[in-house]
Amino acid sequence: MIHVITAENRDLYKDALRQHHRIRHEIYIGERHWNGLQSRDGLEFDNFDNTNATYVLALEGDRVIGGSRLYPTALPHMLDQVCPALAEVKGIPRGPDIFEWTRIFAIKERREGRFGGKVVGNILCAGLEFCLAEGVTALSLVFEAWWLPRLQSHGWIIKPLGLPGLIDGEWWLAAMLPINENILAATRAHYGITERLLVRQGLSGPGLRRVA
Ligand code: COA
Repeated sequence: MIHVITAENRDLYKDALRQHHRIRHEIYIGERHWNGLQSRDGLEFDNFDNTNATYVLALEGDRVIGGSRLYPTALPHMLDQVCPALAEVKGIPRGPDIFEWTRIFAIKERREGRFGGKVVGNILCAGLEFCLAEGVTALSLVFEAWWLPRLQSHGWIIKPLGLPGLIDGEWWLAAMLPINENILAATRAHYGITERLLVRQGLSGPGLRRVA
C-alpha cells in the first residue's frame, strides 16, 4: 500500500521515514551521484525535507520499497531554488493548489520499468489520488528528459515550462501537469491498477500543508 506521511502523522512512521532517507542516500548519493545533498549518518536530506513536505511512500509490511515527496510551490521549493532556469519560458508555477512532486524512486530489486513498473505505478496513482482528494489542481515536475515519453505514455498532458537544461551531465526539464480524474484514470489504466491504494493513517483532516 502507499502511505501518506505529513507533519501530523510522522511519529507513526519514524522507522519508515528513516529507511526512506537511508534508501535515498543509497540512490541519490551512492548511485546517481547528485550534488548539493546533505549526508548525515548514512541518511540523505535536502533543503525541502522539513515539516512542509508530504511523503508518499510505498511500504511492503514495514519495509519501504519506493517513495516520493510533495512540496508546496507557495514556499521556496526545488524548481525556484535549485534550477529556476528550467522555467524561463513560462515562469515558475506557484500557488496554494499547486505542489511540486519530486524524488520518485523504487528500490533496486523492485525496479521493473520494462515490465510495468508496478511500484512506481502504485506511487504515481496513489499520489494523484491523494492530490485530487486534497483539491490540488496541478503538479510542478522537475525531471530528467528520459522521463518525458514515459510520462506522456501515461496519458499525462505535460506543459513544459522552459527549454531543457544540462545539469551535472543530464538533460532536465520542468513542466506543469494539470490534474483531474481523467489523468488518474489514464494512469491507472496504464499500470493496470483498479483499486484505491492510499493509506491515510493518523491524518485527521487535510493532509497537505497549504500555504497561501
Ligand atoms: N537514465 C535513463 N533512463 C532511465 C534511468 C536513468 N537514470 N532510469 C530509468 N530509466 C528508463 C530506462 O529506459 C529504463 O529501461 P531499461 O532498464 O530497459 O533501460 C526504464 O526507465 C525503466 O527503468 P526501471 O528502473 O526498471 O523502472 P521503474 O519504473 O521500476 O523505476 C525509477 C523507475 C526512476 C523510479 C527507478 O529507476 C529509480 O528509482 N531510479 C533511481 C531514482 C531516480 O533516479 N529517480 C528519478 C529522479 S527523482
